[in-house]
Amino acid sequence: MTELYRGHIVYSKSGEELAVYKNSWIAVEDGTVEGIYEVLPEKFKGLSVRDFGNGVIIPAFSDLHVHAPQYPQRGLAMDLLLEDWLNNYTFPLEARYADLPFARAVYEAFVDDLIANGTMHACIFGTIHPEATGFLLTRLEEKGLSAFVGKVNMDKASPAYLCETTEDSLRETESFLERYSGQKTAKPILTPRFAPTCTAELLKGLGKLGRKYHTGMQTHLVESKWEAQQALADFPGVSCDTEIYERAGLMDNGPVIAAHFIFPSEEDIRILKKYDGYAVQCPDATVNITAGIMSTAAYARAGINLALGSDIAGGHHIGIYGQAARSVQLSKLKWFYEGEETVDFKRTFYMATKQGGEIFGRVGSLERGYRFDALVIDGLEDPFCPLAPQEIVERFCYSGNSSHIRARFLGGKEL
Ligand code: GUN
Ligand code: FE
Repeated sequence: MTELYRGHIVYSKSGEELAVYKNSWIAVEDGTVEGIYEVLPEKFKGLSVRDFGNGVIIPAFSDLHVHAPQYPQRGLAMDLLLEDWLNNYTFPLEARYADLPFARAVYEAFVDDLIANGTMHACIFGTIHPEATGFLLTRLEEKGLSAFVGKVNMDKASPAYLCETTEDSLRETESFLERYSGQKTAKPILTPRFAPTCTAELLKGLGKLGRKYHTGMQTHLVESKWEAQQALADFPGVSCDTEIYERAGLMDNGPVIAAHFIFPSEEDIRILKKYDGYAVQCPDATVNITAGIMSTAAYARAGINLALGSDIAGGHHIGIYGQAARSVQLSKLKWFYEGEETVDFKRTFYMATKQGGEIFGRVGSLERGYRFDALVIDGLEDPFCPLAPQEIVERFCYSGNSSHIRARFLGGKEL
């Protein structure tokens, strides 16, 4: 079945190039993009067309680092640094997910807000609790969103109310993988929280599970100077944070998602690249709780896979469009203070859509063969100063909000 939509169309071809079509048609066949046409071909004449007028059709966003349980904490305690923020606010909140009715209420609101803000693909941290995290996976699958979701592992240096034994952590992770690996769109992923809260034995056990169930891994990697130093102190003999996961066999079973990756050594970079891992910039979180700015332009030049994350609730807003703007802003600060190269909007929009989408399959672009996971952006024009379609997209990322998303499509179906 073919559906036709008309409007302006913008998507990333690469980190250097946006494709821009004015007043064009996009044909969607069984949920997949068939083609974009500046003149409607004969074969489609007679089909009805949904006309979005001056609206801009763009790909839906991918959030590669977000903590669903921290959703109620967004925009709070943002004057603390990472360690105090975790201990005083985040860990007590995460402990509440032993309570399933609480978890359900939060996770339903979280998933609705993801969709409202145009995020259709996400890598999500749960908590240590398998039931609550399982509910989140079920909810995402029901909605049809593409997701990797992790039951978090932490078996040391955590408060007693949020600390597992190594055996429990491994056993519960295995039954979690068994139970949810067969889902279609929302899949489990291994989620050791970060090196300071995981023993070597736990990581090794997770590595074995990764091999057995062909499951990738997400974690926080070289996020802050404190974390990078703590990791080296906790794992004597390793040369860098990333090597901890390589030694545990966690890097080659599926996608590797390294949240933050702000203070890597050359060795961290070599290992992440070797396994085709993703460095996920979370610009708001970086400003709120961490003293550091990713060298995004240098990473792009070095061929490191890049993506963006909201990092709710280190970050205070769930929309990835705002992170595309903030990433440009941070790179300018990095230039101002440290003389590093800047990134432009083409690069960060690519991270937010096509590049971040790669780990979920053919999503994040509007090229032929990509799944039609798309948004229609509207209501950002000034009547006295017409904007080009790509300018509307840029303004949306800087100044827009969910009310500017006029329509949302997932697999060709309007939500
Ligand atoms: N490092 C370890 N846990 C967390 C967390 O929950 N959020 C962030 N931003 N960093 C972390
Ligand atoms: Fe995080």
